[in-house]
Amino acid sequence: MSPSKRAFDLVVAANRLPVDRVVSADGEVSWRTSPGGLVTAMESVMRDRDGAWVGWAGEAGEAPEPFEEQGMWLRPVALSEDEVKQYYEGFSNDTLWPIYHDVIVGASFHRQWFTQYEKVNRRFAEAIAEVAAKGATVWVHDYQLQLVPGMVRELRPDVRIGWFDHIPFPPVELFAQLPWRRAILEGLLGADYLGFQRVADAQNFVRACRQLLGLQTRGDTVSVSRADDSRRVRASAVPISIDFKGLEALAKEPETRARAKEIRESLGDPETLLLGVDRLDYTKGIGHRIKAYGELLAEDKVAPPREVFVQVATPSRERVEAYQQLRAEIEGEVGRLNGEFSRIGAPAVQYLHHSYPRREMAALFLAADVLLVTPLRDGMNLVAKEYVTCRYDEGGALVLSEFTGAFHELHQAFVVNPHDIEGLKQGIMRAIETPDKEKRRLMRAMRRRVADHDVQRWAARFLENLASAPERPAPAAPS
Ligand code: ADP
Ligand code: G6P
Repeated sequence: MSPSKRAFDLVVAANRLPVDRVVSADGEVSWRTSPGGLVTAMESVMRDRDGAWVGWAGEAGEAPEPFEEQGMWLRPVALSEDEVKQYYEGFSNDTLWPIYHDVIVGASFHRQWFTQYEKVNRRFAEAIAEVAAKGATVWVHDYQLQLVPGMVRELRPDVRIGWFDHIPFPPVELFAQLPWRRAILEGLLGADYLGFQRVADAQNFVRACRQLLGLQTRGDTVSVSRADDSRRVRASAVPISIDFKGLEALAKEPETRARAKEIRESLGDPETLLLGVDRLDYTKGIGHRIKAYGELLAEDKVAPPREVFVQVATPSRERVEAYQQLRAEIEGEVGRLNGEFSRIGAPAVQYLHHSYPRREMAALFLAADVLLVTPLRDGMNLVAKEYVTCRYDEGGALVLSEFTGAFHELHQAFVVNPHDIEGLKQGIMRAIETPDKEKRRLMRAMRRRVADHDVQRWAARFLENLASAPERPAPAAPS
């Protein structure tokens, strides 16, 4: 069998492959870990499983040949420059992303974008159909590929299809704005099982099927009844997690611990090191956090070098206008605070617009006394779980927005509503001032939760739900 004709019992499809192809100025090609929580989680699930991953290699143009990486078979899908603009930056990240995140910024609606979304979803479905063995399990991910379940079902009625939503699923009042709402719901209903981060997300989906498609629903199940297709589809919550053991082991390595110490020293050994780590995205509440911190600086409740705030803002979706605006706003605010409150050798805010290796991230988490996670809306927020995982020393404190999926699991965090700037300031001060003994108790409880509900358990639960979904697909395989 030629390498490009291999067939797999487990096929994962996500917009991105776990690695992006990067070509340097002198033409040298290398592969770099792709950004975001989806890849962090699924990369550790798929490592050393004999499965295929169908996805985009992160640059416009022809797709590279399929290749093997850490036991996974990667099957790149090509996107043209136009498709990157209209399917990825346009429909996925300028239509769906804002609608699915409470319209924090306005959504754009363009019919041509949806045409490209359909076209690219079909290409993904065809690639999946090509690498899936007879009766395979197909696991589709996230909002970029919502038409894929229905398309795969048409092409390959023999496979079992699951879809997981890494981001929130919006209330029906918001979802209903989408002119393509019917096509999206019907696409998703091509799956045998649909997984969501929170119970409320699964309920929003079921309600949308009832109200917008007029389908019968019962509890977490939607009945699809068409002449050619009569099934029940279950939609339930399976919150995602991280590789607790792997990340904890990395944090414990002497090199990581030494680096954490070095980070603190190079920041002047502050009494309190506060840290934010986010993709530079308007959903993450970075501006609200900086505003609150700025007021604390102005009120002299915090002051460098006694308190130091490091904000890592990972570059993201840099050609989408809302992201360009956000970057200008955040960098303007950081500049303003530094101009006003920094002293020579002691900046008020250390701002880093870069990606880092995993060890550096673990060292930052280990070095930070307080992690600020203040999204206005976030499906889960794996950074919060990574922080508590790295704190094998039971040190540190987590400030956590109630609008994250993580809030529903990490009950011992210092919980904040980021819209309430006074409340946010109080949450930050409580995280700084609570006695260490009490903070250790809180951290211990949060660590237990993540250790017991790690990414392997999440994947096992998803796959069990998929395997035991209400009705088995028709047995016929394609000729
Ligand atoms: P999202 O998926 O919206 O980006 P998450 O918090 O769920 O948010 O996941 C972000 C992932 O990206 C985490 O695994 C985090 O460690 C990683 N990450 C974020 N910023 C950086 C960075 N600057 N360098 C390397 N990894 C990063
Ligand atoms: C979130 C989304 C992922 C996405 C990631 C990074 O985690 O749920 O689907 O891959 O952000 O965003 P990007 O647009 O760079 O892939």
